[in-house]
Amino acid sequence: MDEILKQKIETLQRKNAEALLGGGQAKIDAQHKKGKLTARERIDLLFDEGTFEEIGRFVMHRCKDFGLANEHYLGDGVVTGYGTINGRLVYAFSQDFTVFGGSLSETYAEKICKIMDLALKNGAPIIGLNDSGGARIQEGVNSLAGYADIFYRNTIASGVVPQISAIMGPCAGGAVYSPAITDFIMMVENTSYMFVTGPNVVKTVTHEEVSFEELGGAVTHATKSGVTHFTFSNEIECIENIKKLLSYIPQNCEEEAPRLPYSLQGNEKRPELNTIVPSNPNQPYDMKDIITQIVDTDSFFEVHKNYAENIVVGFARLAGRSIGIVGNQPAVLAGVLDINSSIKAARFVRFCDCFNIPLLVLVDVPGFLPGTDQEWRGIITNGAKLLYAFCEATVPRVTVITRKAYGGAYDVMNSKHIGADMNYAFPTAEIAVMGAKGAAEIIFKKEIAEAENPEAELQKKIEEYTAKFATPYKAAHRGYIDEVIMPEDTRFKLIRAFQMLENKAVKLPKKKHGNIPL
Ligand code: HXC
Repeated sequence: MDEILKQKIETLQRKNAEALLGGGQAKIDAQHKKGKLTARERIDLLFDEGTFEEIGRFVMHRCKDFGLANEHYLGDGVVTGYGTINGRLVYAFSQDFTVFGGSLSETYAEKICKIMDLALKNGAPIIGLNDSGGARIQEGVNSLAGYADIFYRNTIASGVVPQISAIMGPCAGGAVYSPAITDFIMMVENTSYMFVTGPNVVKTVTHEEVSFEELGGAVTHATKSGVTHFTFSNEIECIENIKKLLSYIPQNCEEEAPRLPYSLQGNEKRPELNTIVPSNPNQPYDMKDIITQIVDTDSFFEVHKNYAENIVVGFARLAGRSIGIVGNQPAVLAGVLDINSSIKAARFVRFCDCFNIPLLVLVDVPGFLPGTDQEWRGIITNGAKLLYAFCEATVPRVTVITRKAYGGAYDVMNSKHIGADMNYAFPTAEIAVMGAKGAAEIIFKKEIAEAENPEAELQKKIEEYTAKFATPYKAAHRGYIDEVIMPEDTRFKLIRAFQMLENKAVKLPKKKHGNIPL
């Protein structure tokens, strides 16, 4: 090798080494001290070993204002590229807090947009690892424009390729809106936060004193706002769970989720299911106990675990095939549908429908939650979201009513009438306009009032109504329920039903897009 060639190669090696250091060793040490990994360490953990190919490692910002003309870092604060996760192609960007606090410049945004465009053209998921002080203040509107370019692509990619956002540091200002448009948000406890305006602005405007953690930490968003779907105690766990989530979902809207090999083991009976639903309709039980018995061992992956716990949503595998589950949770607020649970379930249903993931719906719902709080905050519009989401879903849809299916909630929870393909009921199912007591009090009001012993008369009428309507049989006589099943057969019946529905093809009328009641 001649001297000139040698120098050229050394220049490349030097630049590569410089780029790998991001904002420098001192900043890397500071990042570690906060309990955070660097952008590159996160990428290494995320991708299959040796598969990550970086794009744009030498990109630099073009800003000349506020002293930035002479301050450049190769890569400009974000690592972008592609690689494989469990052998499947994925695109990712990882924001580098060691460079200008991970703040977003015009060129930084261009790098992200470049991989988003590639992901969209090639039909593969986009993962964003966020750790950024927001818009790079020195760049002014160029940075805002960069954010908008990303928001636009997030929206265009929505429903085409899966998008997952992990929040691993600050995520402030308008920066939160890119993750918000993506399909799933994961936050790391104690080191990440998300808010539109930070505690200082909050104090100035509303005079509230609130900490970063309380205003926008992982626990806040997992329990109060529902902004995040998952929280994890550290970054490694978070990254492991990105991979786990990907295992349930396809590469894009044209494909199916990966399947694990599975051969039917006889009738797949689960006798434990016969005794989970109590005979007393007022006694709670945990719908997750039913889910665990139905799905493949340890395959239930719950989404939004700590938010609107009166409904349970998550992915699982049934005979190796990925499914989405929506289940009322009788153990919390008796499984009632309210604003938050409707929104939570509607978003999950729509995700599954976008990405060809069949839906299993487990029903035990006493109805919608009454009251001024719910009405004034719009239970009508918000409950309609879930109704709308089920109605428009064209994936295979199977329902099992385990106990109560009352009133409008019966219709909403994937009833036959709104497009479910197969509807099963346990012998414990009660399908009627309302619970027996309420019904008896209304329709036998006069008889009860005039009776010698109104209390005894009410009890008699309750029993009468219960015997007639608090069963699955009226609905089964009409064909609204396809089969009343022994609970122990549920897993087998569902495996067969989803197999039977495997080639389901439904075309909705041509339209630009529907107008879901937002
Ligand atoms: C440029 C920034 C920056 C930013 C941080 N830095 N945020 N540089 N633009 N937005 C730089 C700091 O100057 C510092 O540089 C380094 O990054 C690390 O920041 P520190 O403050 O030392 O770190 P820390 O104490 O951990 O605090 C992190 C932080 C804080 C909470 C994120 O930096 C902060 O509040 N930044 C500003 C957040 C913000 O208001 N962003 C704009 C939001 S509006 P040195 O050289 O000292 O190491 C927005 C609009 C988007 O984003 C609109 C889209 C629609």
